[in-house]
Amino acid sequence: MDLGGEDTSLITRLVGELFHGGQPQVPELPATVPATLAGLPTQLPVSPQAAPPSVDSRDAGLNGGFPTTTSSAPPVHPTVVSSEPEPVSKSSSQPRSGGHSRGDSHSFEYGEPSYYNDLIGTRQKDSPVEHPLDTLYREPSFPQGVQVIDEPDFYFLKGLKGASLPPVAAPLTAFDVEGVRRDFPALHQRVNGHPLIYLDNAATTHKPQSVLDATSQFYGRDNSNIHRAAHALAERSTKLFEAGREKVRQFLGAGDAKEIVFLRGTTEAINLVANSYGRHNVGPGDEILLTQLEHHANIVPWQLLAAQTGAVIRVVPINDRGELILEEFAKLLSEKTKIVSVTHVSNALGTVNPVEQIIPLAHAVGAVVLVDGAQSTPHLPVNVSALDVDFYVFSGHKIFGPTGIGALYGKKHLLDAMPPWQGGGHMIQDVTFEKTIYRPAPEKFEAGTPDIAGVVGLGAAIDYLFRVGIPGIAAYEHTLLEYATHALSTVPGLRPIGTATNKASVLSFVIPGVSNEAIAHHLDKQGIAVRAGHHCALPAQRHFGQDTTVRPSLAFYNTFGEVDALVAALHQLPKR
Ligand code: ALA
Repeated sequence: MDLGGEDTSLITRLVGELFHGGQPQVPELPATVPATLAGLPTQLPVSPQAAPPSVDSRDAGLNGGFPTTTSSAPPVHPTVVSSEPEPVSKSSSQPRSGGHSRGDSHSFEYGEPSYYNDLIGTRQKDSPVEHPLDTLYREPSFPQGVQVIDEPDFYFLKGLKGASLPPVAAPLTAFDVEGVRRDFPALHQRVNGHPLIYLDNAATTHKPQSVLDATSQFYGRDNSNIHRAAHALAERSTKLFEAGREKVRQFLGAGDAKEIVFLRGTTEAINLVANSYGRHNVGPGDEILLTQLEHHANIVPWQLLAAQTGAVIRVVPINDRGELILEEFAKLLSEKTKIVSVTHVSNALGTVNPVEQIIPLAHAVGAVVLVDGAQSTPHLPVNVSALDVDFYVFSGHKIFGPTGIGALYGKKHLLDAMPPWQGGGHMIQDVTFEKTIYRPAPEKFEAGTPDIAGVVGLGAAIDYLFRVGIPGIAAYEHTLLEYATHALSTVPGLRPIGTATNKASVLSFVIPGVSNEAIAHHLDKQGIAVRAGHHCALPAQRHFGQDTTVRPSLAFYNTFGEVDALVAALHQLPKR
């Protein structure tokens, strides 16, 4: 099967469109959403006079994996552009300028009397961890123009062909990481006597103040169940809930809000598809194609389905960088393949999978494709319409929203044909003991009282991401990951686990002779939070002969200074 070539011109074109393509799309908040709850302003802090990019393909090798990091000098930031400082909004959710990379804000020790009261109070500088690149990002003093890397592996612009791009606040330009950090109260605390450095973002992310406000204001003012016609609060609550659905639609680039189903998160969404679509479309001898990169949440539901239906699970192998072997994927596809379920970004290795290639290949044999977006949505622009994916799932808590809420995108004709998987209130039109008539999708999949406050908080998180600008987040994180990859390579004995050319966020490693738990404990004593363990992805890690690794994982509020602190702490590991 022809795997097709890379569309290298796409990257240049899309980057050009980001800057030249006329008006950025401002997400329109439904008129019915109270401004205070929606985390206004409704206008993005777009700088319409942003300088056009000067494309420069000389500076190559900006990949997240070790293989391309050959120079001994730290990577140079590739995508900065001079811009005027963004207007500062009074909204607490508005990213602001200035500050320091660590300990710049008010800090507190867990358990101190002032722990909660002072959480968002006056902040003071203590023990900053400074890095010149943090300053570079903070100060609008670098040269005019953007250097765009015109290379085919610039992963965060893939899969957007023909897409209606997410709103762009400051795309690929100066990224105000310090302003962003001020919006996250939890980042400003001391842990074990040190300012917190939170590098466990693949597990869960912290929440901006606007998400905290939206959630608490919902409970403090609008709390009601969602039965629109009953009373004023119910009307408000229903509107807020459906406004959240519309925000998820925009976030994923779906065509219709009815294609968005609210669930507890990625795990529940995959279970829904396996139980509803799977049980009705998969039979004995049919094949479900997974990859060796999958999170257990994208393995176990399919194993349960296979056990119930007599279907067979096939697994696409990975190479020693932790990348899918696409030729093997193509070979495993056949008319027996009914479902392909693949992660967009590996939570254990950080590999960004070429879903824009995988999806058409699977469709060519008549399979439907589910993409697990739990680890992509915090880092990359996603557009399900451009991808032509059948199902796409993600979790709110990984994108700076609340825990316990997530969403399934499903193509309308698939959702319409799928039976409910749980029964209860809210999902029915009529019930008699003889027969129940279900409501159409998405309600038929939302039995019982949903997590209304969770949806409100998720909507606020999406508003926040749109304001910061997802392409800008991707560009900043790409550079931070490149820098961290190089910096970690200076730690004696450190073995990176997962060195894919296209990576996002994750920097898993082991240091032979030191247990992963001991490393995590050593870092925790210095206020540095990382995860050590199997990361719910044992098959991926066992490819590298490991059951567990240490996994620092980045978000857009992390800084170069924090990476330096991590690396310095690793250099101080007790002698083995
Ligand atoms: N899936 C989450 C992780 O990777 C829990 O840590």
